This record gives sequence, C-alpha cells and structure tokens, in this order.
Amino acid sequence: MHKEQALLLAFLPAAFGCLNANSNSCASFIKSQAATASPFCATFTRSTVTATTGLPAWATYCSNKPSMISAECSCAYTGGGSQPTTTLRTTTRATTGATTTTTTRPTTTSSGGGGGGGGCAAPVNQLVGFGAGVTGGGSGSGVTVTSCSALSAAAANGGVIRVSGLLSGCGVIDLESNTSLLGVGSNSGIVDGGIRIKDASNVIVRNLKFSPAKKGDAVSLDGATNVWIDHNEFYSLGLAGGKDDYDGLLDITHASNLVTVSWNKFRDHWKGSLIGHSDNNASEDTGKLKVTYHHNSWNNVNSGLPSLRFGTGHVYSSCFQNCPTSGVHSRMGAQVLVENSYFNNVPRAVVTNLDSDIDGFLTERNNIFVGTSTVQITQTSNFSPPYSYTMTSASNVCSCVNGSAGVGIVTF
Ligand SMILES: *[C@@H]1O[C@H](CO)[C@@H](O)[C@H](O)[C@H]1NC(C)=O
Ligand SMILES: *[C@@H]1O[C@H](CO)[C@@H](O)[C@H](O)[C@H]1NC(C)=O
Ligand SMILES: *[C@@H]1O[C@H](CO)[C@@H](O)[C@H](O)[C@H]1NC(C)=O
Repeated sequence: MHKEQALLLAFLPAAFGCLNANSNSCASFIKSQAATASPFCATFTRSTVTATTGLPAWATYCSNKPSMISAECSCAYTGGGSQPTTTLRTTTRATTGATTTTTTRPTTTSSGGGGGGGGCAAPVNQLVGFGAGVTGGGSGSGVTVTSCSALSAAAANGGVIRVSGLLSGCGVIDLESNTSLLGVGSNSGIVDGGIRIKDASNVIVRNLKFSPAKKGDAVSLDGATNVWIDHNEFYSLGLAGGKDDYDGLLDITHASNLVTVSWNKFRDHWKGSLIGHSDNNASEDTGKLKVTYHHNSWNNVNSGLPSLRFGTGHVYSSCFQNCPTSGVHSRMGAQVLVENSYFNNVPRAVVTNLDSDIDGFLTERNNIFVGTSTVQITQTSNFSPPYSYTMTSASNVCSCVNGSAGVGIVTF
C-alpha cells in the first residue's frame, strides 16, 4: 500500500526553483534590472542557448547557467508568449509508512540461483541489464595472484585472474579484454591503488575490495564496453580531508558503454561514480554510456550516486543512506530511470539541475524518500529499459543489500 504523505511545495515560490533575491546574485539582478532582464527573459528559449553561447553579459550573475536564468526568468516574469519552457519543480516528501507499492517484473532467464536473503526478491548471482552477455575470461580456473607483480603480469594476459589477499601499492593495473578479475574468499582486493579498463571489452570484476590511492580512481572505465562490476566494496577514509584528495570510486568515461554495476557497497568517500567526464564532449558520449545500477548500497558518499552525463542510466533497488550532497544526478540531457530504491538523508536524492549548464531527464517511481531526502526534477525521462529484470521493493532493499551486496557473498 502506498502510505506516502507527499508534501508538494508547488504552491510556494521556492518550489519553482526561485532563489532568494536578497542572497542570490542571479535573482537579485533579474529582480532589480527589469529594463535589461525583462526583454531578454521574454525572448529567452533555452533551446537556442547552448552552454555559455548566446547568453547576455549579465549571465555571469547566474553562473552562466541557462537553467538558472530560465528558472529566475520564470520566477520574475510569468506569462507571455516566449517564456522559458523549463518548469522547475522541487518536491519534498515525508513518508509515514514503511512500505510502498512495488512492481516485480519476471525475468526471461531463471539461472543463477534463488533470491538473496534479507528480503531480496532478485537472485544474487545473475547478470542482468545493459552489461548482459559479458563472459569475461570464461569459466576456466585461471591463475591466482598474491602480489602486485604477479597481478600485473597476469593482467597483461587476460583470462581468469583470482586475487588472493589485500594487495597494496600496485598502482593502476590495466585490464585487457576478455578478463575476469575475481576476489578469493571475503577479504581480497586492491587497496591504495586501482584498476583501469581502457579501450577494452568483455570484462568482469567481482568480489573485491577497492580503496583508491590519493588522486586516483579505484576503478575506471575509459572507452570500455561490456563490463560487469559485481559484489565489490568501494571505500576510502570518509568525508574527511579535501573533496579532491581522492578521485572517484567508479568512473565510467569516454564513450564507455553497456555496463552493469550490481550488488556493490560504496561507502565513506567524497566522489562516488561519475559517468561522463565532461560537459564538453557530447559528440563522444551521446548514444553511449548506457549503464544499469542495481542492488547497490551507498553509505556516507558525498555525491555522484551516480552522476550521469549524456548517457542512459537505469537505477533500481538500491539503498542510499546519509549521503549529504546529492544522489542520482542526471545532467547534460542524460536519460535516467530510478525505481524501487530507498533514500534516507540524501538531499537532492534524484536531481536534474545541478552543476551542469544543461539539465538531465529523470523519472522516479516507487521509491521511498525519508529524512532530509528531496526530489528535484525539472524534466522527466522517456527511457524504458529494453531488458527484463527483477526488482526488490524499496521497503526491503536496505536489509537486502546489507546482507547480500559486497564481498563474501559470491565467492571464488
Ligand atoms: C576477446 O574474445 C573474443 C571472442 O573470443 C575475440 O574475438 C577477441 O579477439 C578477444 N580479444 C582479445 C583482445 O583477446
Ligand atoms: C573528447 O573526446 C575526444 C575523443 O576521445 C578526445 O580526443 C578529446 O580530448 C575529448 N575532449 C574533451 C574536452 O574531453
Ligand atoms: C546489516 O547487517 C548487520 C549484520 O548482518 C547488522 O548488524 C546491521 O544492523 C545491519 N544494518 C542495517 C542497516 O540493516
């Protein structure tokens, strides 16, 4: 049953994204300089404005963001034939019930074991989503490595590589096409280092702990296609020190494509998962960066859970707790669907108008938002996943992933 008490702030000015003219320079300028702003706002359509091209000089007061100018124009001058087309909407929801209506779709494949414990409806050992079909290094027993030098040598050959123990100081290890990198037992991984999948395809990474070196990504995909990142744990030292001391936990960039990120635990870090490295490479990334994120847990990660530019993202059955800046972030026209997930204390839990000049698209459904969590969507997405998948309900997903995501669940 849907026992959600939605508090729509649509009747308050703030609900339209209007900023306080006393404290914001954009709102202040538009309000006080009507002779300049009003004619511009009357003719302004964001479709003719890309990034900083075509903006008036005073756009600097608005961080040169078409979305911010559009919002403030809408706030200051309503009505009129050529008003901005964007409608900004901010809703804050407080849920009173612990349950929500959920949809479970049948999967076309039934292999891979039964549902996980702790209320998981989905099988814990099954590859679904955009990364489906990845075979990695195949089913052989491969080699087991216990040192950085052995790992480097094995990585150059591909195939099945089992990492035994926590390897520290390996630097960045490049994986080749047709590789499975698998952790042995429940305490293996790569700490103070990372792996990179660059211009390679068909790669599996499972059951490993990753803690990045300073200034590096834990796992980065750069021009990588057909990748499955499953049952790993990503973390650093938490939200101490500087935001840029470390880089991302899992970054997917430069036209990477067809990736599934499932049953991982992400915690205690500033930058979570960045998909699309820059606002300025539409030509490289448009039509690529198709990613599925499901049954992941995010705890005390500042932002980017994930943040997605240009691409197509499907986030379902994930648990987000105490992530202080933003959650699933769609920008630069990305198409994102977020469903059956639980957000506890995640401001801007789903957001489309943050940081980039051009907003993203995002549809959310059957999610639960509690604590300080908010929904900030300016435009909804038309994306519909082209594959079958089984969801765990939002009300069960946190206990599900607590028990069934991360290392030691699917072991090698
Ligand atoms: C990966 O495997 C495919 C299929 O067997 C093969 O065609 C391709 O050459 C392999 N790539 C590399 C780099 O080994
Ligand atoms: C855009 O992508 C191309 C092709 O990969 C690359 O050469 C170029 O450096 C990228 N530009 C930016 C701004 O990232
Ligand atoms: C997660 O599981 C552990 C042990 O299995 C338990 O002690 C802990 O309370 C659980 N946390 C949540 C948030 O459910």
